[in-house]
This record gives sequence, C-alpha cells and structure tokens, in this order.
Amino acid sequence: MPKEFVKSFPPLRPNSKLLVLGAGFSGRRVANVVKAQGRTVICSRRNINSSGADIEFDSNSKDLPPIDDLKTITHVLSCIPPLATGEDPVLTKFLNHLQEMPLQWIGYLSTTGVYGDSKGEWVTENDIPKPQQPRSIRRLACEEAWKHSGLPIQILRLPGIYGPNRSALENFKNEKCKIIEKPGQVFSRIHVDDIAGAVLHLIHKSSQGEWPLVVNIADDLPTSNKDVLNFAAKLLEKPLPIVEPFERAIEEMSAMAISFWQENRRVSNHLLCKELGYSLLHPDYQSGLKDCLKHFKYQKNTNPNYS
Ligand SMILES: NC(=O)c1ccc[n+]([C@@H]2O[C@H](COP(=O)([O-])OP(=O)(O)OC[C@H]3O[C@@H](n4cnc5c(N)ncnc54)[C@H](OP(=O)(O)O)[C@@H]3O)[C@@H](O)[C@H]2O)c1
Repeated sequence: MPKEFVKSFPPLRPNSKLLVLGAGFSGRRVANVVKAQGRTVICSRRNINSSGADIEFDSNSKDLPPIDDLKTITHVLSCIPPLATGEDPVLTKFLNHLQEMPLQWIGYLSTTGVYGDSKGEWVTENDIPKPQQPRSIRRLACEEAWKHSGLPIQILRLPGIYGPNRSALENFKNEKCKIIEKPGQVFSRIHVDDIAGAVLHLIHKSSQGEWPLVVNIADDLPTSNKDVLNFAAKLLEKPLPIVEPFERAIEEMSAMAISFWQENRRVSNHLLCKELGYSLLHPDYQSGLKDCLKHFKYQKNTNPNYS
C-alpha cells in the first residue's frame, strides 16, 4: 500500500485496537490501512481459513470467538448485513462481548437504500428514511437496533461500493456487457478507499467531540450507468457496449437487479465533506475508475489466463 496513501488519513490514537466484524471488501480495506499505520487490527470472517481472518465469527454458529482475546478492543467497525429475519447478526450474537470492551467508537456500515426513492432528488441525513425494498426495511430496523444499543455508535450510510476488482471495468470481462438506458436514472457511488478514509476521519472527529449519529459516505457525482460504462470502455480501449432500453432489459433482469433500478436518488455528502471536512480521494467515477484501471492492468499483466 503506498505510503502517501496511508499517510493521508489520521491514524487511530496509540494503543487503540480495531475490530472489523465482517472483513469483506470494505472491511478488509479499512483494516489494511489501519494496519499499515501501525495499529492493531483484528478481522472476523465466517471461516477462519478465509483470507485475512484473525477470528471466526458467524452469527449462524453457536461458537463465539473467546472474549479474552478481545477485551482491549477500543474501536469496532461492523460490515455485516442484516439477517433475513431483519435482526442484526452482531447485536443478536455479540452484544455481550461488545459490552465487555472499553469501546470509544463503533461504526455500522449501512446503506443509502434506507432513503427509498427520491425520484432523482438529493437526500441528506436529515431526510426521514422511507425504505421500500424489504432488504432496506430490514436495514433500517438494524440501524434502529444499533441506535438503541447503548453503545458509542455512528451509522455510516453507503451507496454502491466499487474499487479494484469490483468496478465497471469488470463488466468488460463479460461478452454480454451492455448499457441499460433509463433516462433520468442515476446511481450514487463510493470508492472503497474513501470508505477507509472516511472511517478514519470520522473516528478522528468523534474523538474531538464531533459525532453526528448518521453520516452518508458518497462521492460528489451521482451518475447514470451509461456514463460510467462508456468511460470504462474508453479506459480499456474497448468498443462501446450496445445500449438497451430499460423497458427491454427488464425482461431478463433478476428481481434484485430490478429493485435497484426502481429507486432513483442523489446522495448528498455535504455533512461528511463540507461540515466534517473530509476530502474525497475519488470525488467522481472518473477518478475512481482510473485508480481501478491500475489494478486491472496489473492483474492482466500477471495472469496469463486473463482476457
Ligand atoms: N456492496 C455494495 O455496493 C453495498 C452498498 C451499500 C451498503 N453495503 C453494505 O455495506 C457493508 C459492507 O459491504 P461490502 O460490500 O464490503 O460487504 P462484503 O464484502 O459482502 O462483506 C460482508 C462481510 O460480512 C460477513 N458476514 C455476512 N453474513 C454474516 C453472518 N451472518 N455472520 C457473520 N459474518 C457475516 C462476511 O463474511 P465472509 O467474509 O465470511 O464472507 C463478510 O466478511 C455490508 O453490510 C453491505 O450490505 C454494500
């Protein structure tokens, strides 16, 4: 990880220890930055043999990691999505453990899906959530449970997460890549490095007493799927994908994909960037995709089977 990148975020205070519950795509990136800053991080995954796992935590299992190993944790980031029942896996199984830790801050990664459909208007943390999709209703229930947990919680609402190995560039590995066109439809996004940066910034701010309960972490430029894929094609020097109107594309879409296209909103980052002073590393998809391209090229050059 480049030193300049690591240095651009405020480190946790000395003697702090971070526990990342659910070290998947976002959790692992946060953990790697904090480790590179010289602080102790413990990561959970459902299987101890998974890459990056220090402890095993699976809410479906009866076994919990031993509390003795976790008694000095000062900060927690929960990246684990709600259970199908709408309960939060961490609060259901791990609350007693959390209550035994000398916690200064807990971040809960939520989604901007809780805002529902704003018909393309901007949404801020002051808007009353109006979730429409069952998964967003479950998410809001988890947010509420965290708010009432008695723990030092901050809720971080995320739009579509992208980054190296998980971006519009990957669409071009698929020969069927196409642009779905729905006039007026935009999606908000966030690059995974800005999740890491914002988490560290918010921990730092909270230690200074600036602690809004809910913060959106989104980039500056909600954009259509078409603009993003066109730019990705340009970066990869590939022909532009064919364009298919949404009305036709919907016939072959999964229920999950359709649900994403049923909501149209622009997520404001005013609180994070203007009031709390976070500077985005990737303010828009163009900056973010150029970063993803560096990793994409590296992968292509080192993997002979990569097409
Ligand atoms: N992807 C998006 O675009 C997006 C957008 C907005 C919000 N979010 C939310 O933001 C959070 C982080 O997203 P992400 O994409 O970084 O997530 P991710 O890569 O899918 O990681 C999720 C983590 O949760 C763990 N997990 C899942 N169910 C669990 C359970 N029942 N018990 C214990 N651990 C469990 C997974 O364990 P394993 O490592 O063992 O798989 C994984 O480490 C998630 O809550 C996600 O729903 C995602």
